Amino acid sequence: MVSKALLRLVSAVNRRRMKLLLGIALLAYVACDFLLNRSIQENGELKIESKIEEVGSLSCILLLFFSFTQKYPPVKFLSEKDRKRILITGGAGFVGSHLTDKLMMDGHEVTVVDNFFTGRKRNVEHWIGHENFELINHDVVEPLYIEVDQIYHLASPASPPNYMYNPIKTLKTNTIGTLNMLGLAKRVGARLLLASTSEVYGDPEVHPQSEDYWGHVNPIGPRACYDEGKRVAETMCYAYMKQEGVEVRVARIFNTFGPRMHMNDGRVVSNFILQALQGEPLTVYGSGSQTRAFQYVSDLVNGLVALMNSNVSSPVNLGNPEEHTILEFAQLIKSLVGSGSEIQFLSEAQDDPQKRKPDIRKAKMMLAWEPVVPLEEGLNKAIHYFRKELEYQANNQYIPKPKPARIKKGRTRHN
Ligand SMILES: NC(=O)c1ccc[n+]([C@@H]2O[C@H](COP(=O)([O-])OP(=O)(O)OC[C@H]3O[C@@H](n4cnc5c(N)ncnc54)[C@H](O)[C@@H]3O)[C@@H](O)[C@H]2O)c1
Repeated sequence: MVSKALLRLVSAVNRRRMKLLLGIALLAYVACDFLLNRSIQENGELKIESKIEEVGSLSCILLLFFSFTQKYPPVKFLSEKDRKRILITGGAGFVGSHLTDKLMMDGHEVTVVDNFFTGRKRNVEHWIGHENFELINHDVVEPLYIEVDQIYHLASPASPPNYMYNPIKTLKTNTIGTLNMLGLAKRVGARLLLASTSEVYGDPEVHPQSEDYWGHVNPIGPRACYDEGKRVAETMCYAYMKQEGVEVRVARIFNTFGPRMHMNDGRVVSNFILQALQGEPLTVYGSGSQTRAFQYVSDLVNGLVALMNSNVSSPVNLGNPEEHTILEFAQLIKSLVGSGSEIQFLSEAQDDPQKRKPDIRKAKMMLAWEPVVPLEEGLNKAIHYFRKELEYQANNQYIPKPKPARIKKGRTRHN
């Protein structure tokens, strides 16, 4: 009787360590059963029923003990009225997983939808089993039917090697995927925030780039699948806003870095850190005089949440305006790692923007937001993360390849 109830209880518990609990409970059951049989044999006539009850109680105590000791990061309590049901597409990726952490810790109910093209379960596994959290393996190119109040639409490969790997899929994700999410927002009356990009400005002719600059994008270049995909995704947002009354927010995100970036991200920060940590040459494309400005991921996440909850429906730049040349980044990272790596100059990449720096006056004024994490502090955290990742890798042999992304020919896996 009790053991059946125990099994029913265990199967009802949808927790990360369910298997472990079940194992421990069953082990306890077997151990007690063994003792019980022995004492029956020794004493001849023991009350079998009462022993079975003891076994059941012991197992239940163990089960409850392990359920209560399961650790999650601390979560605020929000009343029903303030607690939102939030969908994050691409929530198992680099930015999405940090956003998941923030919204979970703020006390909201978070559903992460991801096809794990570049994202990893590891990035959100610390929430699996939490009653406010759900992880769905789903491709946004297919429609999704759920009830939510807000949608952070982040699903899209973000780094050049990843988005150039399968340009057709990148286009589908940013076009059909965005249409599907806008359709969902319209159906359930949710507000949608699009994670757009500074790449909509292309190789800019104005500096720094403010939101009213229309951009300078090569529509048929190797980056077009991403740049134009994001541009049309923005167009779709405003068409849904004007025609269907959907509430939209558009964040134009500039280069961001931090823990949980991909080892094969292929962009400057991760490349330089990994190369410096492994004593390999730091590869600089062109002269190294081209500039970039990098923001730390927690600054971006705060900006995304501020924008979502603001009344600003026009695009807003989110980035750190502190501009450095690529060569300066290489030297800084080399010295923070304490590496003896050389700096190696390679030929310039096609359509590589020469300058990139956000004008964030709008975000400052309308959202009272600006980046606060100093570059060196952020870089030290990223270096710590990549050092651990290298240790984590079984063979410890990963070295980013200083060559342009592979462009697949013919039929590909992700289309
Ligand atoms: N990281 C940056 O510097 C940066 C800069 C500008 C814009 N952005 C934008 O922010 C968003 C997140 O970027 P990130 O750096 O975290 O990249 P990421 O690659 O780490 O995350 C993207 C996530 O989307 C998922 N995804 C991709 N295609 C999908 C699909 N069809 N269906 C469901 N999930 C899918 C991936 O598996 C991944 O988890 C992207 O939209 C990107 O364009 C990022």
